[in-house]
Amino acid sequence: MPKNTVLTLQQQKQAGDKICQVTAYDYTMACLVEEAGLEMILVGDSLGMVMMGYEDTLPVTMDDMVRYTRSVTRATNNTFVVADMPFMSYQASMNEAVTNAGRLLKEGRAQAVKLEGGATVVKQIRAMTEAGIPVQAHIGMTPQSVNAFGGFKVQGKNVDAAKQIVEDAIAVQEAGAFSIVLECVPALLAEYITEQVNAITIGIGAGAGCDGQVLVGQDLLGMTHGFKPKFVKRFGEVGNAIMDAYAAYSAEVKAGTFPASPEHTFKIDEEVMELVRRG
Ligand code: KIV
Repeated sequence: MPKNTVLTLQQQKQAGDKICQVTAYDYTMACLVEEAGLEMILVGDSLGMVMMGYEDTLPVTMDDMVRYTRSVTRATNNTFVVADMPFMSYQASMNEAVTNAGRLLKEGRAQAVKLEGGATVVKQIRAMTEAGIPVQAHIGMTPQSVNAFGGFKVQGKNVDAAKQIVEDAIAVQEAGAFSIVLECVPALLAEYITEQVNAITIGIGAGAGCDGQVLVGQDLLGMTHGFKPKFVKRFGEVGNAIMDAYAAYSAEVKAGTFPASPEHTFKIDEEVMELVRRG
């Protein structure tokens, strides 16, 4: 598989070839994504919920993002890795925003960063791109603003709200974003935005009219329990396969059939053992 870059991804958009992005947060999973040949990994701040068990993404820190991003990029050669800017790592000051974005490339070894927000974060996007940091913007439903939205809801359903999302898309593109995640927006609106911008649109809950798609890895693998958003499709039942394997391991340990001899055990000469027993 060729190395994915901002340039090859843009060529893919021009050719009408769909782009596939998935979240991954650790080395083992990133090896599997790379092997499967997907174009992009997102080290999303969703790791706060998926890997750390938080209720939402707000507690995730820059140090968390750097550590998980580096675990992923140790596994990747060809997959283009985008790392999320966590809540309050880019809002307070421009200086902090660029320094923190830089950490994700310098220490995390990501190829790009993602940040949530439209027209409100164009200054940050411009400053980052001017510093040579590729930016994926994220508009529509932005989980870091869950408290402002009053929950995880579809965005852009009335004229004003839909126009605002179109304006956001154009604003982040003009500020330099090479890609835009459209989360939980109506399919026709996402298709319209995709036609209006040169940036690569990546949808999650935004229909098939985007240039590509992103899903949380554990959701599509069937590893998560509880509430399943409408836009998630489970492409596997890996969670059940893991639980079956744990149960089989436990049953064999309890039955004394694992570890088996000689397959899983090491030998010692009988004479050596005899000397050990004599003390
Ligand atoms: O953090 C994340 O996983 C994301 C995706 C849902 C787009 O932002």
